[in-house]
Amino acid sequence: MTEKDFYKKAAIYWANVPATIDGVLGGFGSFSDIDIDESRAFLNKVLSSANPPATKLALDCGAGIGRVTKHLLIHYFDKIDLVEPDLKFITEAKINIGDDVTKLGTLYQTGLQNFRPHKNYDVIWCQWVLGHLNDSDLIKFLNQSKEALSKNGLIIIKENITTSKEVEYDEDDSSVTRPLELMTKIFDQVNLRIIHSDIQLLYLL
Ligand SMILES: C[S@@+](CC[C@H](N)C(=O)[O-])C[C@H]1O[C@@H](n2cnc3c(N)ncnc32)[C@H](O)[C@@H]1O
Repeated sequence: MTEKDFYKKAAIYWANVPATIDGVLGGFGSFSDIDIDESRAFLNKVLSSANPPATKLALDCGAGIGRVTKHLLIHYFDKIDLVEPDLKFITEAKINIGDDVTKLGTLYQTGLQNFRPHKNYDVIWCQWVLGHLNDSDLIKFLNQSKEALSKNGLIIIKENITTSKEVEYDEDDSSVTRPLELMTKIFDQVNLRIIHSDIQLLYLL
């Protein structure tokens, strides 16, 4: 598949998904609360570690309808910028975060493969989105994100990984799931060091 088709197919998939929690979580909406709880515990650990990032400005990448921003990031950061290619999701994110409008920074309607950060961020949060980038765009994105970090800033990545050692392609949403070995190799390639890591198991209640 060409690079153009890989991105186009994903855009078509998301354009046909309703702007709801269940929609952005691929039918696993009931998993949202536990996901946020586990992310909160992780963020608390990060922010109480030695040399923590500041909490002025965060970037929510592949933000969807602003689920992570609304339920997590808004409680920690003064302002959050969002990157999300799908217009209906961005519109919904604005409505969702409406009450906390002073917290909402810039909304960038674009794919991460075309995004260039113009600000410095304390935390760049990437959740369930990096599988929408091919390896070379992921490397470019991580390099640019690294350059955009404030002092003590961190890129936080929360992604599924394969239990096999293979990259798995999902025909439905045109995304890849990478094995941990490949993720680690890519981090090495861009000189990013893992300083905190955790596994969230998928419990369905
Ligand atoms: C599984 S949803 C996750 C949304 C959000 N991170 C969350 O956890 O609620 C994936 C999101 O990535 C967005 N997306 C798809 N391709 C993307 C790309 N190339 N760059 C940035 N975001 C993309 C989709 O529109 C969708 O909102």
